[in-house]
Amino acid sequence: MSKINSKRTKMCGEFTAADVGRKVTVYGFVAKYRNLGSIIFVDLRDRTGILQLNFDSGKSDGLFEEAAAIRNEFVIKATGTIRRRGEKNVNPNMATGEIELEADALEILSEAETPPFAISDLANVGENLRLKYRYLDLRRPALQNILVTRAKIVSTTYEYLTKRGFMNIETPFLGKSTPEGARDYLVPSRVHPGTFYALPQSPQLYKQLLMISGFDRYFQVVKCFRDEDLRANRQPEFTQIDLEMSYAEKPEDVMKEAEGLIREIFKNTLGMKLPRSFRRLKYSEAMSRFGSDKPDTRFGLELKNVTPLVKKCGFSVFENASGRGMSVRAINAKGLASMTRKEIDSIQEVVREYGAKGLAYIAWKEDGISSPIKKFFADETFDALINAVDGEKGDIIFFVADRDKTVFAALGALRLHIAKKYGLIDENTYDILWVTDFPLYEYDEEEKRLNAMHHPFTSPVPADLKYLDKNPLKVRAMAYDLVINGQEAGGGSIRIHTPSLQRKMFEKISLTEKDINERFGFFVEAFRYGVPPHGGLAFGLDRLVMLITKTDNIKDVIAFPKNQSAVGLMEDCPSAVEQKQLDELEISVGGDK
Ligand code: AMO
Ligand code: AMP
Repeated sequence: MSKINSKRTKMCGEFTAADVGRKVTVYGFVAKYRNLGSIIFVDLRDRTGILQLNFDSGKSDGLFEEAAAIRNEFVIKATGTIRRRGEKNVNPNMATGEIELEADALEILSEAETPPFAISDLANVGENLRLKYRYLDLRRPALQNILVTRAKIVSTTYEYLTKRGFMNIETPFLGKSTPEGARDYLVPSRVHPGTFYALPQSPQLYKQLLMISGFDRYFQVVKCFRDEDLRANRQPEFTQIDLEMSYAEKPEDVMKEAEGLIREIFKNTLGMKLPRSFRRLKYSEAMSRFGSDKPDTRFGLELKNVTPLVKKCGFSVFENASGRGMSVRAINAKGLASMTRKEIDSIQEVVREYGAKGLAYIAWKEDGISSPIKKFFADETFDALINAVDGEKGDIIFFVADRDKTVFAALGALRLHIAKKYGLIDENTYDILWVTDFPLYEYDEEEKRLNAMHHPFTSPVPADLKYLDKNPLKVRAMAYDLVINGQEAGGGSIRIHTPSLQRKMFEKISLTEKDINERFGFFVEAFRYGVPPHGGLAFGLDRLVMLITKTDNIKDVIAFPKNQSAVGLMEDCPSAVEQKQLDELEISVGGDK
């Protein structure tokens, strides 16, 4: 086989009509070949696109025979001359569709067996098989483009944050358990058998310590590890764009920097100009209008509190929900009264998944009202319920009565379900907003104690400090989340920087003196030596990539992801290890309990 000595001219997708007449060298994978007897066409693929090569039997000796050996996914090198395609061969669907390479030499660099599935964007292959052969699936242009965009977001982040005075500093992976609220991944120590490092759920403690060290502004694009139930937007290891800044005294100081970064990312990836400042929505308003702290506000279907109307309505389910911390709320699905009984049942299933005990409705159809709850109400109350949500003929109104938490969760989910099912979402827009003024604490029903809603280093709103002892659930946090299209893309807070308040915060979430010293002793101690006020935030890089590339599967944006049960199907991990390794770690597995 001939050896080609020239170097690559450029990548396949980069050739244009301007190259016509040029003698060039190309490399790539064979995406497709067609042997027409006297001519062989090859689609040559690399991550920039596809270039058509043709091998003519009338050309140099032996070339056609060599080309006849080519099969899909072979890796080849070819030289030749770029020429314009004949008019009827122009392919308007291809970026390089006007031109082709008339080959005069070929080198087969690597042969390939028939892959377990065709590498085409249209491959309709089960996800498990694709994950097992991830390196092949990654040859697909769609996945390649996503990873190209991901790399662009990362390089933009480095450039922008560096320009803004943020300094990249690495923090340990082998560390101590941090309190982001998920389970830790543990790494056993061989040198100190019986002890464990925890992989970081985030660099939270380290980045605050860097502020105490005087680094002023820090950032890192960093892996985080959380052993939690996986969902479409969650992986056990994921990446944060993490930042922290000294002398941030109020949320706006951090939010401004974050807005700048997001604007730059959208500009560089989508060519989109975002406003200087994003919308702000208080947590309480987000919950009461949308039933969610990450509201998708691309569509209406807002919640309406109808509790005052049903206090003495005669329907016990509604009356019983007018007590403290409970409510009856409604959503008016405008124009959808004609949905079938079956559709209503499926909607009922959705709210039940979120703990609702039932779903009442009023459907105002062409031929009158259909509602299983009409019989319980006096006419005035029934009319008042309809008026409260501006109901008119053609509408169907849904009600959930329960504890607030359940009502919000159920109706929040119902909103999304209806919007998706009935196509109410404009998928071409980006709905970007900050949710602010989160509560500092939430009540943990199971453990019967307070928990930090964000994390225990988050500062209370100074004006609310007066409630800290008597009514802690009323205290707001200086915390903020960035929500894009109903996804939590990032979150952060202004931190506590006084030792006494930090200690109090730990006490409030029922950490004993011993817990505090064992878990955060080093951190609390650092607070004794001068702490600049500081704050920061972390974006979920994977989620940003998902939003920008419009995929709803987080696995699509990670080169080597885990499946839904946290298994790496390609490398087959987690897996058993040799007994010798376990012995060194003094770990015994299984056996009698
Ligand atoms: P938080 O826990 O909110 O904050 O995480 C920040 C962002 O990380 C993303 N994220 C995830 N992405 C994929 N898979 C996961 N399992 C996952 N978990 C979180 C989300 C989220 O908004 N230390 C704080 C930040 C700070 O206060 O500065 C923290 O980690 O997009
Ligand atoms: P019942 O009298 O239990 O058959 O309930 C009458 C209607 O009220 C049914 O359509 C139920 O789905 C609905 N319902 C029951 N519990 C609730 C609840 N907690 N919130 C809203 N609707 C409910």
